[in-house]
Amino acid sequence: MDPIEKLMDEHQNILAGIDILARNADRLEKGEKVDPRFFNEAIDFIRNYADRYHHAKEEDILFKKMEKAGFPVEGGPIAVMLSEHDQGRHYVRAMEKANERYIVGDKSAVNEIAENAKSYVYLLRAHIDKEDRILYPMARNALGESGIEAMRPDFDRVEKEKSGTEEKYKALLKELESY
Ligand SMILES: [Fe+2]
Ligand SMILES: [Fe+2]
Repeated sequence: MDPIEKLMDEHQNILAGIDILARNADRLEKGEKVDPRFFNEAIDFIRNYADRYHHAKEEDILFKKMEKAGFPVEGGPIAVMLSEHDQGRHYVRAMEKANERYIVGDKSAVNEIAENAKSYVYLLRAHIDKEDRILYPMARNALGESGIEAMRPDFDRVEKEKSGTEEKYKALLKELESY
């Protein structure tokens, strides 16, 4: 796998995670009870896999490389991707706050959890689709195979720093399925 293929592979795991989140948000909306620990674990998956692992590689390595190749940081596709990462963080924080209220028995938090979860799912599905179909092919075109390969040492460094992340969060995906 080259670095772009690795990012696309991570997208598949993220999509699997947000499918489970969407299902549980639906259950909440239908009035079913969902264990609040599910949302804590889903937030852990989103924060530490989707954001600090995957989005961090995009922001710190790929987008920087694209910038150097002449892509504007402001007003272009990179700016849109960055603002979507931020918007996602906002939904996750709101979901976390509402879940804290849910944990202590505040039933009025249920709608807020469901709404923020669904907004996150909607945002991320569209975001991933844009990256897979538009941004990554654009990067591949502009950087060429050698430019893509040149990112490999930085990707390897992140894998090393965050070693065990893939395994840990693939296992967590299975656990999320069990709620
Ligand atoms: Fe992204
Ligand atoms: Fe991505």
